[in-house]
Amino acid sequence: MERMDYFIELYGGLPRGGPGDNASTRKAFEMMEHLPPEPKILDIGCGPGMQTIELLRLSGGTVVALDLLPQMISRVKQSADSEGFADRLEAVQADMNDMRFEPASFDVIWSEGAIYFLGFEKGLEKVKEFVKPGGYVAVSEAVWLEPDRPQEVADLWKEYPEIDTVERKLEVVSKLGYSIVNHFVLPASSWTELYYDPLAKRITEYENKWNGIPEAEDVLAEARNEISVFRKHSRCYSYAFFVMRK
Ligand SMILES: C[S@@+](CC[C@H](N)C(=O)[O-])C[C@H]1O[C@@H](n2cnc3c(N)ncnc32)[C@H](O)[C@@H]1O
Repeated sequence: MERMDYFIELYGGLPRGGPGDNASTRKAFEMMEHLPPEPKILDIGCGPGMQTIELLRLSGGTVVALDLLPQMISRVKQSADSEGFADRLEAVQADMNDMRFEPASFDVIWSEGAIYFLGFEKGLEKVKEFVKPGGYVAVSEAVWLEPDRPQEVADLWKEYPEIDTVERKLEVVSKLGYSIVNHFVLPASSWTELYYDPLAKRITEYENKWNGIPEAEDVLAEARNEISVFRKHSRCYSYAFFVMRK
């Protein structure tokens, strides 16, 4: 197994693939006041699909859930089956860099903690063609909350130089020609309850199993560090939801 396989095994069994919770999904969804009764939604980087299911529940519409990993596609399908939403879900295994949809074919484009794989600005620019005029785009994205950034925080985020202040992200949204509907910062609990707390449990489960495998130990050490930096410095950074309209 390679490093990425260990990474996928550790993170792939979590309830969510990143910070978030159903209350935040709902809050962002309710900001979109001019949706048709059964909106067509694209959920990019759906992961295990907690927000996909919540969107199906909230919207009464259809959701195309897209992810690169087959494991995630299986999980979102299983959840939709068990919640009774299978007939309104289309799960697509695809690379978001190579999305092939009809122009202006969605009422909503959604992406929680995943648009960064395209780049925030590039991603928002790219998805614009798939949204109907007057349709919405809602994404969550990493943001700085304070100018003070201790070294271990700066080190953690150096892999992702696009993290920025909420104000700078809003400037990007406006520059791309979207109108900003609203935005809010996710609570610290959305990092812990469904993401870091279950991750900490999984780290403990895998410690013995992966003992002596350098690539696997490296993945565990990085995960431990990520959790520890967040516990100490959650006031410095979070994710923010940005809801915009084309
Ligand atoms: C941080 S997780 C977020 C998952 C989910 N939205 C959530 O909040 O629980 C990012 C997801 O994007 C997917 N992803 C990464 N690169 C991708 C790509 N190029 N195309 C499609 N999906 C990708 C990953 O497999 C992962 O499931």
